[in-house]
Amino acid sequence: MKRSVFLLSILVFCSYSTIAQIIPVITRQNALVFQVSQNKDVQMIYLGEKLANQDEYVQIPGLYNQSGDYTGLYNSAYTSSGTRNLLEPAISVTHSDGNNSLDLEYVSHDVEKISDDISLLKITLKDRVYPFQVTMFIKSYFAEDVIEQWTEISHQEKKGVILRKYASANLSLKSNAFYLTQYHGDWAKEMRPEESKLTHGIKTLDSKLGTRANLFQPSFFMISMGKPATEDEGEVLYGMLEWSGNFKIDMELDPQDNLRIIAGINNYASEYSLAANQNFKTPAFLYVLSKNGKGEASRKIQTWARDHKLLDGKGNRLTLLNNWEATGFGFNEQKLFAILKDTKKLGVDLFLLDDGWFGNKYPRNSDNAGLGDWQANREKLPTGVASLVKEASATGVKFGIWVEPEMVNPASNLYHQHPDWVIKQPNRGEYYFRNQLVLDLSNPKVQDFVFGVVDGLFTENPDLAYIKWDCNAVIYNAYSAHLQNKSHLYVDYVNGLYNVLKRLRDKHPTVPMMLCSGGGGRVDYAALQYFTEFWPSDNTDPLERVFIQWEYSYFFPSMSMSCHVTDWGRQPLKYKVDVAMMGKMGFDIVVDRLSENDLKFCQQAVGTYNQLKDIIWHGDQYRLVDPKSNDFASLMYVDSLKQKAVIFNYLVNNRYDVRSVCPVKMKGLNPDRKYRVQEVNLYPGTQSALDSQKVLSGDFLMRVGYNPRVDGSRQSVVLLIEEE
Ligand code: DGJ
Repeated sequence: MKRSVFLLSILVFCSYSTIAQIIPVITRQNALVFQVSQNKDVQMIYLGEKLANQDEYVQIPGLYNQSGDYTGLYNSAYTSSGTRNLLEPAISVTHSDGNNSLDLEYVSHDVEKISDDISLLKITLKDRVYPFQVTMFIKSYFAEDVIEQWTEISHQEKKGVILRKYASANLSLKSNAFYLTQYHGDWAKEMRPEESKLTHGIKTLDSKLGTRANLFQPSFFMISMGKPATEDEGEVLYGMLEWSGNFKIDMELDPQDNLRIIAGINNYASEYSLAANQNFKTPAFLYVLSKNGKGEASRKIQTWARDHKLLDGKGNRLTLLNNWEATGFGFNEQKLFAILKDTKKLGVDLFLLDDGWFGNKYPRNSDNAGLGDWQANREKLPTGVASLVKEASATGVKFGIWVEPEMVNPASNLYHQHPDWVIKQPNRGEYYFRNQLVLDLSNPKVQDFVFGVVDGLFTENPDLAYIKWDCNAVIYNAYSAHLQNKSHLYVDYVNGLYNVLKRLRDKHPTVPMMLCSGGGGRVDYAALQYFTEFWPSDNTDPLERVFIQWEYSYFFPSMSMSCHVTDWGRQPLKYKVDVAMMGKMGFDIVVDRLSENDLKFCQQAVGTYNQLKDIIWHGDQYRLVDPKSNDFASLMYVDSLKQKAVIFNYLVNNRYDVRSVCPVKMKGLNPDRKYRVQEVNLYPGTQSALDSQKVLSGDFLMRVGYNPRVDGSRQSVVLLIEEE
């Protein structure tokens, strides 16, 4: 060992033994611990199971006999750049005098108790030379072990400072191996998982798409520590950014073999100029750690979402009939009046009118015209939207409508009247995604317009009961005619969107809204504060949906996932309905083309769903059999009192004689209670292959299990488990 390195190791050891301060964040099972070193660096020294004795956290760093840290910053809680740092920074700035250095030191911290469950730790840091501050915010949710972390950045320099990188959080994890589960995809191919062992260097998950930022990959991920976690075993961290725009998550396996996770807005083309005393707030990075596998982690996130984030997370949702797959753009008032009757006949709560109802000079008869002109098309709807709302109410159903208010077709009045409201380069040709362009939401006038589109619909139609908010284009040719600082666009766009959504929610707090983005291009927990549900994918082939919904379920509760029965896929109607049932069910079919039995089945299924939906929406979810490694999938939802549960089983392999050979072990029941298992949602005229008279103990059902008898003739089976 070189002498200098040897000396350094001793210094590092010494600095651990003379620690100035420990700052622990304690939740029900875990602890996140920061340390202020002697020279006032704030470091993250622990994320793991909490200790009985808080005084012992101080011992943790000294127990690692890793190679030296040349900087004292490898495990920095918020790594600055331009001075000692050698690794990926969390923050990088150019001061008003052109200097690029930053070295943040601890100033103070305090803890605010927001409620019995929620605490907010603030750690204030300042540069050692410049009047430049960062406050780290660590919001902890005790019951669910969830942490949200973000920063606020400000300064009092003479002129503006340029923020070149401004992450939300900077974690440092210790383990002998790290396995990353990430997702990739594209339209209709959302949420395809990949797992890999992280090697040294940086693995980045990012988006530069601006809007529908998750199209190729979302910011959600899992890190298993030591070995790949399973549903019930292993230490696993889930993370995701609460931001509906460009993100960047860097995972750096550092020279000491620790994993640094630096998560935030993507700084790509997004240098941000900050005036003196202005506050720059980064979005929250959300994470949760479980010692007991992916299942527990996802139940924590789902519970947290319902209790604290998702709009109306404890409330109700509306079942619906949508007309997109059934009619596309081709409808008129008469046809819609008939569909309203079908909605009633089907027994669902609401009819959702999709794309194609607006535009006159540029009628929206295909996706190449009309976006931006939000007046009802006079040919299709001569008496306007109001008559539809009225007719719906006369028919005994609610009415909802599709909008895509952030977008514009070049073939529209809006585009011609306000070319400066459109994101496009002034001196280059236009480039389209689905024949459309994105409006510049960094511009307050555009925000007013977008707000006005949706608010206007509510004002003109007070009974409007649902909005599907779509967003089909990415940002090409990023340029704002409005912004002085052109590189603020990606950030100001998203904040502009949140401004609009907040204004809408202040005025219309409870109306359910679906967050759609040509499929799952946009879902995240910042957006879900304003939306009751999201559209996971345009791919509604139920076989595909089993896989897509399975993966989303790690991060989002079932009540937030809109799942529609459509003509996609070759599976029987029952299979389609059973798959839609495990989320928030809807239909997008031509009801009057259903056979008598199909219609009867759907009607009965709506009734069955109404009885089961409380368990599905608010219960604990257990993934029992993984479709990626088995011939069938099995998912279970258990109510909080452990009195009732539902299990969905779906065959996912077409080969000869595939079937559920072994019993499926249930989870989440009370071992001491007795339960009756019966098959529900049977197709008219069919008999269950199961004996519904059998009563079995929770102990038996969880240790031995139960065979749903899924096979080629029973491709999907729904079981209801009720305490006797
Ligand atoms: C994309 C959505 O995902 C679809 O459900 C549908 O609303 C179309 N847009 C309408 O253009």
